[in-house]
Amino acid sequence: MKIVVTGVNGQLGYDVVRELKSRGYQNILGIDIDDLDITNKTQVVEFFKKNIPAAIIHCAAYTSVDKAEDNKDICINVNVEGTKNLVEQAKKYDSKFVYISTDYVFDGDKKSPYEINDTPRPQSVYGESKYLGELETIKHDKHFIIRISWVFGKNGFNFVKTMLRLGKEKEFLNVVNDQFGSPTYTYDLSRLLVDFIETNKYGIYHGTNEETCTWYEFTKEIFKIACINIPVNPIMTSDYPTKAKRPKNSVLSKSSLDINGFKRLPNWKDALQRYLKEIEVI
Ligand SMILES: NC(=O)c1ccc[n+]([C@@H]2O[C@H](COP(=O)([O-])OP(=O)(O)OC[C@H]3O[C@@H](n4cnc5c(N)ncnc54)[C@H](OP(=O)(O)O)[C@@H]3O)[C@@H](O)[C@H]2O)c1
Repeated sequence: MKIVVTGVNGQLGYDVVRELKSRGYQNILGIDIDDLDITNKTQVVEFFKKNIPAAIIHCAAYTSVDKAEDNKDICINVNVEGTKNLVEQAKKYDSKFVYISTDYVFDGDKKSPYEINDTPRPQSVYGESKYLGELETIKHDKHFIIRISWVFGKNGFNFVKTMLRLGKEKEFLNVVNDQFGSPTYTYDLSRLLVDFIETNKYGIYHGTNEETCTWYEFTKEIFKIACINIPVNPIMTSDYPTKAKRPKNSVLSKSSLDINGFKRLPNWKDALQRYLKEIEVI
């Protein structure tokens, strides 16, 4: 059974391949832009002629949220056209297709956790591109769409690594304390994604680590575990302007996992502890 994983050089793709290997999958094709540019339709068609997969786990994306505001064409090309090219092949060869989406498809104004059927209303170019990617994905019946948020993994850049660096460089830090969400450890998420492809329970899911926090609380926990002792001050989003608008409420309800018998991810504090061990901070 051949499994194609895109974005293998990124955070999530790296861990998905690792999870597949650990479960004994033999025929795994982890690819990134040097192997296949997903925006090049001819290349994509030729690639799948030679590599017909049982499932595609699509982790490649344009993920620079702020840069996307100035690079809309590139972002849309990768996240929408690239996804479309892959979905067409999944349809042609009847492969299962896993699409990774984001909390950024929502506006963040809801006062309770977002359910899978809440209406997306992206507030940024990146969020819009990921939502349009969802719309491409649902054209193929055998789809799993999973929305995640605040991702951290061994292989790539993320908030945790940035805070660890700033914790060494700065005398104090100001961190936003009025955006709420849940971190997602790619190691934990990969287990769920491989669980998905071993079923036919297609549909939309939300999948982050359990429990919620603000970026400020996240930072405090990183510093607590890593024994970094600089002061961290809570600030408002309005005190930390960014090019792309972030949702105030990014909390995603995981009830669709329960309904379909999938195991939720562990608590984010537990995940963070394991992650800091994995990257040899503790
Ligand atoms: N990071 C987050 O906080 C977050 C939050 C919610 C959802 N997500 C979603 O989760 C998924 C995985 O994210 P991640 O953090 O693992 O991403 P990542 O670390 O940025 O990895 C994405 C990979 O895709 C590759 N890629 C970009 N353009 C490509 C193209 N045209 N053809 C083939 N490959 C291409 C990138 O290569 P280059 O580095 O060379 O461009 C990179 O290796 C993405 O779908 C993302 O949208 C992420």
